Amino acid sequence: MSVANHAMTDRAKVAVLISGRGSNMTALVDAAKAPDCPYEVVLVLSNRPDAQGLALAAAAGVPTLGIDHRPFGTDREAHERALDAALRAAGAEYVALAGYMRVLTPWLVEAWAGRMINIHPSLLPKYPGLDTHRRAIEAGDAEAGCTVHLVTAGVDEGPILDQSRVPVLKGDTPEALAARVLEAEHDLYPAALARLVAG
Ligand code: GRF
Repeated sequence: MSVANHAMTDRAKVAVLISGRGSNMTALVDAAKAPDCPYEVVLVLSNRPDAQGLALAAAAGVPTLGIDHRPFGTDREAHERALDAALRAAGAEYVALAGYMRVLTPWLVEAWAGRMINIHPSLLPKYPGLDTHRRAIEAGDAEAGCTVHLVTAGVDEGPILDQSRVPVLKGDTPEALAARVLEAEHDLYPAALARLVAG
């Protein structure tokens, strides 16, 4: 086996959980094409089988799976046990949430403690939850940005791994600010993940 092949097989195995568009997932997959990237994406998993991001991942040659949460009704943990089984079957060592729009139960969070990360479109601890860009504009903030953090039981509360800042410009709409932050997300997320898996 060549040195290059050996390095490839040693890369950390990452699964990405999405619910929709998948632009951050795409950034993670694209970054993994670099020969010196310390991770590979082994599965893109969605609770929405029709998520746009699943088609993007499949087109990029990454294994995909949809596990619809709806048949599980209110039994969130049963849905997560199905997700967890798929993650383990894929050999995942880390999980990156990328626009995964369901609150996780403590069971899944604990199962992946220290190995599950999320990207959030605000400078946490400011603006956990939804509608972050409108809230930053309405507060008159001069800066906005994004945060990569370890996932813990509290929503958007885990230890911060890294942040990236962008200016809030005069006359910004939430959409304009979201687009500026999203560009920063696409740089921040692969870099933060690479650092985490590299220890
Ligand atoms: C991103 O803004 C991310 O920070 C948030 O959800 C959005 C997902 O967008 N958690 P995409 O699906 O990665 O395009």
